[in-house]
Amino acid sequence: MDTPPSPTDARDLPSLLSDISALEQLADEWPEELRNAANARGEAIDALNAEAFKRLIKSLKEAPDFGPALKNAAADEIVYTVLRRHGILKPTLFERVEEALESIRPMLASHGGDVELVAVELPRVTVRFLGACDGCPASALTFYSGVKTAIQNYVPEATEIKQAKGLGGGDGVQFVSPFASFQKDGWTETLDLDDLPDGATQALDVNEESVLLSRFGDKVTCFSNNCAHMGMRLDDGVVEEGLITCPFHGFRYSLESGECLTAPEVQLQPHGVRVIKNIIEVRLIK
Ligand code: FES
Repeated sequence: MDTPPSPTDARDLPSLLSDISALEQLADEWPEELRNAANARGEAIDALNAEAFKRLIKSLKEAPDFGPALKNAAADEIVYTVLRRHGILKPTLFERVEEALESIRPMLASHGGDVELVAVELPRVTVRFLGACDGCPASALTFYSGVKTAIQNYVPEATEIKQAKGLGGGDGVQFVSPFASFQKDGWTETLDLDDLPDGATQALDVNEESVLLSRFGDKVTCFSNNCAHMGMRLDDGVVEEGLITCPFHGFRYSLESGECLTAPEVQLQPHGVRVIKNIIEVRLIK
């Protein structure tokens, strides 16, 4: 049996945090009254510690070399974590950008994608879409409406948000949808690019799923062949100037971005697309 650490043993941050998390999970099982009492006790101790740290910092502020000494002390991850928890240290620029990206990740994940921070060089922040977001036709919309707004909310001094190229590429790669270039596996070869003329849309089955492939110049998009209204097949709908109209109740969609013009709160389910050596490959997003 493991011997529990003595209070004088040096502990690392992960083991200390894991103790806290285990105790919090234990308390989750308690009756509400006990849980509230335990939470209130924890908050009272936090408030006491926060006040003590504030006074300590205030009284030491005038000491020579206080700033560099504090910076030095905060290089220790445990010291840093505790000072951050009590609001003594403010989040760094990187942490604020990461917080912003974290806030948008659930939305990106729902499209099978992710985003990573590439660089912060104020006023510019550069990010890269990953997974299904990389090259996805809806990514321009996703990017400007989601990621950019989130970053500017958390880091108002970032006035320029740039999108770095995806991680795709390699021999013969002609096109990769934004979120998709990160994905190495799960691709299915479909048509030769020459068999999908510019401006054309074609329905086909990929791994037993019906999809719509559309070509816009060098770019190819792929969406589920199901209307976002009631899930009916779209491929009997009229296609005109990059828009498809559902034959059932008339919802209209952009085949370039997947946006629904009839009900902007819904959109077509996108799938990853890439063109390698003139072959269109699709990666289904479940
Ligand atoms: S199912 Fe497409 S508009 Fe209703």
